[in-house]
Amino acid sequence: ADGTGRTGAESGTDSRTDSTPFLPLSVHHHRPTMHPLSGWCLLLLFSMGVQGAPETPSAIPEHVHLSYPGEPGSMTVTWTTWVPARSEVQFGMQLSGPLPLRAQGTHTPFVDGGVQRRKLYIHRVTLRKLLPGVQYVYRCGSAQGWSHRFRFKALKKGVHWSPRLAVFGDMGADNAKALPRLRRDTQQGMYDAILHVGDFAYNMDQDNARVGDRFMQLIEPVAASLPYMTCPGNHEQRYNFSNYKARFSMPGDNEGLWYSWDLGPAHIISFSTEVYFFLQYGRHLVQKQFRWLENDLQKANKNRAARPWIITMGHRPMYCSNADLDDCTMYESKVRRGLRGKYGLEDLFYKHGVDLELWAHEHSYERLWPIYNYEVFNGSLHQPYTRPRGPVHIITGSAGCEERLTPFVIKPRPWSAVRVKEYGYTRMHILNGTHLHIQQVSDDQDGKIVDDFWLVRPLHGRMMYH
Ligand SMILES: *[C@@H]1O[C@H](CO)[C@@H](O)[C@H](O)[C@H]1NC(C)=O
Ligand SMILES: *[C@@H]1O[C@H](CO)[C@@H](O)[C@H](O)[C@H]1NC(C)=O
Ligand SMILES: *[C@@H]1O[C@H](CO)[C@@H](O)[C@H](O)[C@H]1NC(C)=O
Ligand SMILES: [Fe+2]
Repeated sequence: ADGTGRTGAESGTDSRTDSTPFLPLSVHHHRPTMHPLSGWCLLLLFSMGVQGAPETPSAIPEHVHLSYPGEPGSMTVTWTTWVPARSEVQFGMQLSGPLPLRAQGTHTPFVDGGVQRRKLYIHRVTLRKLLPGVQYVYRCGSAQGWSHRFRFKALKKGVHWSPRLAVFGDMGADNAKALPRLRRDTQQGMYDAILHVGDFAYNMDQDNARVGDRFMQLIEPVAASLPYMTCPGNHEQRYNFSNYKARFSMPGDNEGLWYSWDLGPAHIISFSTEVYFFLQYGRHLVQKQFRWLENDLQKANKNRAARPWIITMGHRPMYCSNADLDDCTMYESKVRRGLRGKYGLEDLFYKHGVDLELWAHEHSYERLWPIYNYEVFNGSLHQPYTRPRGPVHIITGSAGCEERLTPFVIKPRPWSAVRVKEYGYTRMHILNGTHLHIQQVSDDQDGKIVDDFWLVRPLHGRMMYH
């Protein structure tokens, strides 16, 4: 069975919330009230599942999650049903009682590439004209079935505020070590957004995409409350990244493979390192993405007085000091140098003065000294991250998955500042246009901060590294 325990259609009325004015964000899998028959249905479903019979089709939303579509005052809600149904979000600002506002969207069928050709209906609804910084309550679905109520805060507008993010990659449906703490942090309102830097579920396509279903359900307590922003990793590659493209709704019109968005004083660019490795899906994608990156970086630099930080996220790093044979351990890594010396990203990012490059793929945490072409460009010996003369790289891929942690080579490289082989995730606080704070949380050490540093760059002459 799918194990979600969602077995029957719910009535279109919202009476459930009269007794429970607001459902705690942490509890979504257990209904406060159960239909007397639902226990039987569960049993039945379970025994059917064991024999491999198909799931009972349901119009009750699952995998509810948010993303920011890039226009101020908006938020996209994405969810799954197992039969076609209308796509509506009801929302409002009161914690309990009726939800007066409505938004309509569309659903598209997604057929997984596995032998069972399982079919999901992915619903997308964008809420607009949200008041900046205001908390909203919503539910999604249709008369055939509604989700629980969730709440989120609309992102603030403009550049003069201090976004807080959680950043990590490589989180699976099994051994998702960082998730319990991320849920608690989320409930306490610690973040404005999540950046998941590739590699989801391990893998979303597995078991005819049931692992993807399980993963999307698992992250719901976080992702239904915060924009969950993504980029593709190698684990998404099956069927040309089809599960990734179908299940997430990122800004732009490129199926979430590459896009950018503004958040307070930062411009955040998400891209696919995978175009350099899965050439069977199209060599032209390398060039296409590169041109797009170049153009986006030029635009971002024209706007740099307003949004000084340029932050990139991509799955496979250019550098790493892990004890494996991954691309980042090669001197001429493909991400850094491109294919046959063309379309390399290090020169591009350096030339356009990218401040911070977020990576994952290695299941560990590593911080680099400011670097370009293997040379360390500290701001100064004692304050390496104040006026750095090259981009700063962070590799944060230790959120937890079945592949466990990746060891480091014994002798740290001269460009490697901090290495942590523990489960955890990164907190990023973009304080203002000149100050950015990074902390690494260890889940092995019960939330202890195991790395902490400030990146400081003056506004003046921001683009150039000299
Ligand atoms: C894979 O997907 C990309 C983007 O969605 C598309 O441009 C490309 O043609 C696809 N490749 C194949 C082999 O279908
Ligand atoms: C960069 O700064 C760090 C910390 O002060 C120092 O250990 C390292 O040697 C410096 N590297 C260079 C090349 O200056
Ligand atoms: C940013 O915040 C830091 C730390 O509070 C402060 O020292 C600095 O002056 C601020 N910069 C700007 C441009 O406001
Ligand atoms: Fe990976």
